[in-house]
Amino acid sequence: MWIERLRIERLRLFEEVELGFRRGLNVLVGANGAGKTSVLEAVHVLANGRSFRGNVRDGLIRSGSAALRIYAELDPDDGSTVRRIGVERGTRDWSARIDGSPVPLLSDVYRELAVVCFEPGSHALIAGTSEHRRRFLDWALFHVEHAFLADWRGYQRALRQRNALLKQPAVDVALLDAWEADMAQAGERLTVHRRDYLARFEPVLLDVARRFLPEAGQLELRFQQGWGDRPLADALQNARNRDMAIGHTTVGPHRADWEIRYERLPSRETFSRGQEKLTVLACVLAQAELFAADRGSWPVVLLDDLASELDAGHLALTLDRLVHSAAQVLVTGTAALPIVSGAEDRATVFHVEHARVRRED
Ligand SMILES: Nc1ncnc2c1ncn2[C@@H]1O[C@H](COP(=O)(O)OP(=O)(O)OP(=O)(O)O)[C@@H](O)[C@H]1O
Ligand SMILES: [Mg+2]
Repeated sequence: MWIERLRIERLRLFEEVELGFRRGLNVLVGANGAGKTSVLEAVHVLANGRSFRGNVRDGLIRSGSAALRIYAELDPDDGSTVRRIGVERGTRDWSARIDGSPVPLLSDVYRELAVVCFEPGSHALIAGTSEHRRRFLDWALFHVEHAFLADWRGYQRALRQRNALLKQPAVDVALLDAWEADMAQAGERLTVHRRDYLARFEPVLLDVARRFLPEAGQLELRFQQGWGDRPLADALQNARNRDMAIGHTTVGPHRADWEIRYERLPSRETFSRGQEKLTVLACVLAQAELFAADRGSWPVVLLDDLASELDAGHLALTLDRLVHSAAQVLVTGTAALPIVSGAEDRATVFHVEHARVRRED
């Protein structure tokens, strides 16, 4: 899929701006603070309901404004017609539209636009909390496995109920039994999806990482499902006393995690900062490739400040790989990028200056 047109209203420094993107590489160039990252944030918000720099509370809405609005025209790239999607955030709630009609669920909009992103904060996929790594898995499953969202929601709901019960002075055991049964059912199912995804992801990642970090040797993914190896229903029952004392649920897929083990880098603590970034970039590119293989069309690839994150060799490697794919790429930088020779016709440059954007034709 790719974005033909993007309209941003009252997001960060933008009052109102419209960009006509092309397929291939879209390079946004401008000085510090000009608004380049904000354009990528707008795309990310439309695809996920949150920015990679935080949510509405973190200054997404332009100062002095009450609401933001983001609208895009998408070519799904599957022969179907252009889709128009939009989200709006008023003082309290989000609302969403597809092809002009309001939709009750924001997730309906998120389904239309799949976006992967690599930006200066992305190292959290390796160095950050397990939440980042679960979100990475769940993004793919949301887009590829239709049943996943219902299981995920079912699990989260039952988990909230169990946590609320655990905080009561006298726990209602019958209710606890019932919510644990729901958790176990949905939780086992979503764990199967996560495990299967990682097994399919591993060889794709291996192929990308071999080029990006040849010095690290073979890699292997390890999955921790979030509890021991017994059925989840047993694990929940066993953990009851401890969970009551603590006041929340300590076992289950909400604690799942995964890690990358390289043959020649014993643990993630031994990664250099650059190796950390390259590993994350390899994950992002591999995830996009697997998505393309599963869905028959690429997600939009966002790359913020790429040239300051990578050395020249890895920068060229990344751009080369993407420019020869069918992906639409939005990449930002303070200077023009060294576009792969022979691919100049697949690159469009945008100048971002004081919240205005001009396309070079
Ligand atoms: N809520 C807000 N209201 C108004 N302006 C904001 C708001 N939040 C951020 N800004 C301004 O928007 C700009 C942020 O731009 P952005 O981060 O997109 O810049 P950039 O072009 O990516 O810069 P850099 O090269 O430094 O990464 C800054 O000038 C910042 O001060
Ligand atoms: Mg920036």
